[in-house]
Amino acid sequence: LRQNTPVRYDEARSCWDVFRYEDVHYILKNPKLFSSERGSGTLQGSILTMDPPRHTKMRNLVNKAFTPKAVKDLKNKIEEVTLYLLDQVKEKGTMDLVHSLAGPLPVIIIAELLGVPAKDRDLFKTYSDVLVAGAKDNSNEAFQRMAQKRKEGSEFLKEYFKKIILERKVNPEEDLISLLLAAKIDGEKLTEEEVLSFCVLLLVAGNETTTNLITNAVRYMTEDKNIQEQARTNLPLIPKLVEEALRFYPPIQAIGRVTKEQVKVGGKTIQKGEQVICWVASANRDEQKFTEPNRFTLERKLNPHLSFGFGIHFCLGAPLARLEAEVALLTLLSTFAKLEGVKGTELEAIPSPFVFGVKRLPL
Ligand code: HEM
Repeated sequence: LRQNTPVRYDEARSCWDVFRYEDVHYILKNPKLFSSERGSGTLQGSILTMDPPRHTKMRNLVNKAFTPKAVKDLKNKIEEVTLYLLDQVKEKGTMDLVHSLAGPLPVIIIAELLGVPAKDRDLFKTYSDVLVAGAKDNSNEAFQRMAQKRKEGSEFLKEYFKKIILERKVNPEEDLISLLLAAKIDGEKLTEEEVLSFCVLLLVAGNETTTNLITNAVRYMTEDKNIQEQARTNLPLIPKLVEEALRFYPPIQAIGRVTKEQVKVGGKTIQKGEQVICWVASANRDEQKFTEPNRFTLERKLNPHLSFGFGIHFCLGAPLARLEAEVALLTLLSTFAKLEGVKGTELEAIPSPFVFGVKRLPL
């Protein structure tokens, strides 16, 4: 596709697909030509689907909570939770990584950041999982059931956050919800709906993606003993392992935009108002950008993958996702002498064209 039809229109899906690094990069860095305002269910009304100037102002508000420094302050908590989760399975010597570590870790940390009381965490996880659960099969009924469940999940969480918002209005704390409630844009406070959308966005954008990053990285280590050995014997290589896992198995495979005017991409003319899908998974393996793109290696000096996007919408949670993955991998490698897939188990992919991950990873 990259060679023969790097930019193509798909009649069946009524959208353009873009496969080359250079073109994907061009689209993501040009929000004046390519808008993020698109209908996408639970994420509507969040910064992910906003254009400047509103996007810039909203993003500036929350940037502080996610700076590398702010995230570094969470390191102890991430280590503590990782050790606690692994303690539950250490003696057994086997586990499903998704269930035991990669799933719960990001949810617990985001709950901490938002200020969700510890007693509600299980409930919180159940409903945030519903928001990202895929359909059971490809039938229409399965998709409708999924959509209905997501709607219920989103409504439940909004109701739940409404209660917390009421509490924080009276007794502000040091958490993100209190920060959002106190913030003003052009002298005006955010509406309750905006604060709620932001809370739900953090759950949807940050949980399953980080779960898949951790799972994909560990999965790769079980498939390539050499890489596991290199990381195990040289733990400072772990950040490189995380970056390469992001490039090689991107948790989000593609990013969508809508053209704001007639544009040219890769020699093709695209009319105003068309959907454009930027295939990050393909861009990350573009031979024009990466040497030996289909080789997983810890030797890359630079790794400018696009798995967190690029430009003004660059993933807000990237420092947090990176830190969680680094702590998880470091702790796994230091706790267990060997990480090995359970023989004979077939891995089941998460059924979505835009998400890359497996439902379970028995180790
Ligand atoms: C945006 C990927 C983790 C919050 C994005 C975008 C990508 C992405 C590709 C850009 C979307 C676009 O340009 O339209 C990922 C991946 C993650 C991850 C692969 C894990 C490995 C997180 C976490 C959080 C988070 C942990 C928060 C706790 C956000 C937010 C945005 C975003 C709020 C919207 C930023 C904006 O529109 O300005 N993410 N993400 N993400 N991500 Fe992440």
